[in-house]
Amino acid sequence: MNLLLTGASGTIGSTILTQTLSNPHITSLILLVRRPLTNLALSTHQESGRKPEVKIIIMEGFNIYPDEVVDEIAGCEACIWAMGTYTGDSVVEVEYPTAFADAFLRRQREGRKGKGNGGLERKEKFRFVFLRGAYTVEDQDRSLWFMPSARRGNGLGEKTLRLYAQENACEDIWQTYIMKPGGILPSSILPSMGFILRPVMDVVGAIRSNEVAACIVDIAVHGSEDGKFVWQNGDMVLRGRAVLGE
Ligand SMILES: NC(=O)c1ccc[n+]([C@@H]2O[C@H](COP(=O)([O-])OP(=O)(O)OC[C@H]3O[C@@H](n4cnc5c(N)ncnc54)[C@H](OP(=O)(O)O)[C@@H]3O)[C@@H](O)[C@H]2O)c1
Repeated sequence: MNLLLTGASGTIGSTILTQTLSNPHITSLILLVRRPLTNLALSTHQESGRKPEVKIIIMEGFNIYPDEVVDEIAGCEACIWAMGTYTGDSVVEVEYPTAFADAFLRRQREGRKGKGNGGLERKEKFRFVFLRGAYTVEDQDRSLWFMPSARRGNGLGEKTLRLYAQENACEDIWQTYIMKPGGILPSSILPSMGFILRPVMDVVGAIRSNEVAACIVDIAVHGSEDGKFVWQNGDMVLRGRAVLGE
C-alpha cells in the first residue's frame, strides 16, 4: 500500500517511521516534512534499496498544497498524521490537517469528473489516522485544570477531523481514525521490569512508544474491522501488543 506520514521527525513520529520501514504491507511511503530529515533508520533503509520506497517532500508550509505535491499524494491509501504541538497552536492542530484533507478531497473529486489525476480507483476509504492524546478535549467551553490551551487546541483539531467526512460529504471515500494514547514511555522500559510495571501502566493509562506506533501503523494498513474510529489508550495498548506479538 501507499502510505503518507507527517511528523516523522517527532518523538512519536520517528518510532512510527521506523515501524513503517519494516512493514511488509507498505510498498511506498511519502514523508511530508518542513526541513531535511536526519534519521539513522531511514538512511540505512534507503541504502538497502528495500521496500517501501521512500519519498521525502519538504513543504514550505502545510496550509498550501501545490499541484505537484497533490499529484504525489493523490495515490495514497492512508495517512498517519503525527504532527502536533504541546501548545495547542490552532494553525498546526486544525488548519494544517484540514488543508491537507481539503487538497486531497479536491483532487479526488476532480478525478471523478475526469479532470487531472484522481489517484487510485479506490476499493476502500482513505484512512486518515490522526495522533491526538488521551487528555485532548473537544468541548471548547469545558473548564480544565491543567494544560487548558494545549488540550483544547488539540481537541479542536480532533473534532474538526473526526467530523470532516460528514461535514464535507465525503463519507464514501474518507475515514478518520482518532488515536488517543496516554503518557508515552520508552519502548525499552518493559523488557527488564515488565511484570512489575505493566499493571501499573495499565492503571495510570500509560503506553510504550512501540505500542503506540504498532497500533497506529496497523490501523493505517488494515483499518478497524470492529468499526472503532476513536481509539482510547487501553485499546491501543492491546492492539499494539498484539501486533508486536506480546
Ligand atoms: N509524548 C506523549 O507522551 C504524547 C502523548 C499523547 C499525545 N501526544 C501528542 O502527540 C503529538 C506528537 O507528539 P511528539 O511527542 O511526537 O511531539 P514532538 O516530538 O514535538 O514532534 C512534533 C512533530 O510535529 C512537527 N511539527 C510541529 N510543529 C510544526 C509546524 N509548525 N510545522 C510543521 N511541522 C511541525 C515536528 O516537526 P519538526 O521536527 O520539524 O519541528 C515534529 O515532527 C502532539 O500533538 C502531542 O500532544 C504526545
